[in-house]
Amino acid sequence: MPVRRWRTAVVGGVATATLLAGAAVAAPSSGAGTVGSEGAGDPYFPRAGNGGIDVVRYDLRLDYDPPSSPRRLVGRLDGVAVITLRTTQRLTRFDLDLRGLRAERVRVDGRLARFSHGRGELRIRPARTLPAGEVVEVRIAYGGRTGRPRDLGGALYGWVTTADGAMVASQPDGSSTWFPVSDHPTDKARFRFRVRVPEGLVAVANGLPVDRTTRRGHTAWSWHAADPMAPYLATVTVGNFRLDRYRDRSTGVLVVDAVDRDLPRSAAAGLAATGDMLDFFERRFGPYPFAAYGAIVDDDDLGYALETQTRSLFSGAAEEEVVAHELAHQWLGNHVSVERWADIWLNEGWATYATWLWAEHAHGRPARRAYDAVRAIPASDPFWHTVLADPGPRGLFDAPVYDRGAATLHALRTRLGDRDFLRLARLWVWRHGGGNAGTAVFQALAEEVSGTDLSGFFDAWVRTPRKPA
Ligand code: TRP
Ligand code: ZN
Repeated sequence: MPVRRWRTAVVGGVATATLLAGAAVAAPSSGAGTVGSEGAGDPYFPRAGNGGIDVVRYDLRLDYDPPSSPRRLVGRLDGVAVITLRTTQRLTRFDLDLRGLRAERVRVDGRLARFSHGRGELRIRPARTLPAGEVVEVRIAYGGRTGRPRDLGGALYGWVTTADGAMVASQPDGSSTWFPVSDHPTDKARFRFRVRVPEGLVAVANGLPVDRTTRRGHTAWSWHAADPMAPYLATVTVGNFRLDRYRDRSTGVLVVDAVDRDLPRSAAAGLAATGDMLDFFERRFGPYPFAAYGAIVDDDDLGYALETQTRSLFSGAAEEEVVAHELAHQWLGNHVSVERWADIWLNEGWATYATWLWAEHAHGRPARRAYDAVRAIPASDPFWHTVLADPGPRGLFDAPVYDRGAATLHALRTRLGDRDFLRLARLWVWRHGGGNAGTAVFQALAEEVSGTDLSGFFDAWVRTPRKPA
């Protein structure tokens, strides 16, 4: 999708990136050469995403064999990825991200392309030079064994093989463990999925269910996610699910839930509030931004939940507070997405603040009390030593990102007053929905809405590793 503000270029073999302020930049940079850069220019994950291309659509056709024994959690994934992309510069070569699996054949517009693969980069050399601004179809046959990848902090992520299938949670850079991808939130695209699994298992992906066909002991599940989506928000979760579909009465949103049959009924009890939450968040953040919603509640445990787009993913149980958090992410994180990973507090701070607002509305627990609890943390506590707008790639999901993030928003609300704060929230989603925006743009919008200079406020709350006065 064409919303991107990173301009990347390869200079002397080193990827450099310039953050451009203002509106979307479509023009290819001059003097960039004809090799797409190996990364999108995000300092936290330098090789994630790719330069020179802008993916429009992924059409993923996957065949998955879950582990034959729960004692060895290794599955087999074979796929064909049909990727429609637009070139943003003249290209003799470009990359996609792919880790752990092997590319077997690559075609560009039907013609076999040369390729090489290493360090998570699939380097593709089309048979002809691609002009800038051209839409091409890249078809990649690939496959291999799947396992249980871990991230820097030790959490499982990406294609996580489970005894009865797989749980797929790719934030921040795990999409390349299951398909060739330009894995950065600035390269949003539409997705189609067709996932073939042994009969009896269910494959749940983003968006709307299209159809399912069973033949010779296998069922192919098709899903269509037509709304632009950052690749880390894509999921294909395979398991022993019961699907439950309904239209929410007050908002009209179509909800498709998938709850593991092996879980007790109580594990999904938190989902009962989904309709009321949709209604509550629509009043605060504007219309629900996507074609459908729903939850996946798997019996396996990742130790965290993920706001997979249109279909939030929960491990073990869906607790009410987490249900509210992941739903709020659909507006804040998914529709409006980070410009780069350092901005993660905008996702987690907003989603956490949304749960404070929900608790106030549904249970009469004032947001102010949650704020006071954060303020009660002593200044000497390491909690305050994080630079909120730059927590580092290992600190993306640490407590300050969530709680100092939410406290920052509450303090901002106190500063602006309820009316301007609500206008800010709505305008943020309205203006940047479908795209990306970072901390500087958020501050500028808060200043625009309030007509005040907030540089002191933002310096103290998000740029200083100390407790604000
Ligand atoms: N974004 C998730 C949430 O807060 C949390 C998350 C995603 C996470 N990936 C992670 C937490 C990896 C720890 C490790 O809803
Ligand atoms: Zn979150």
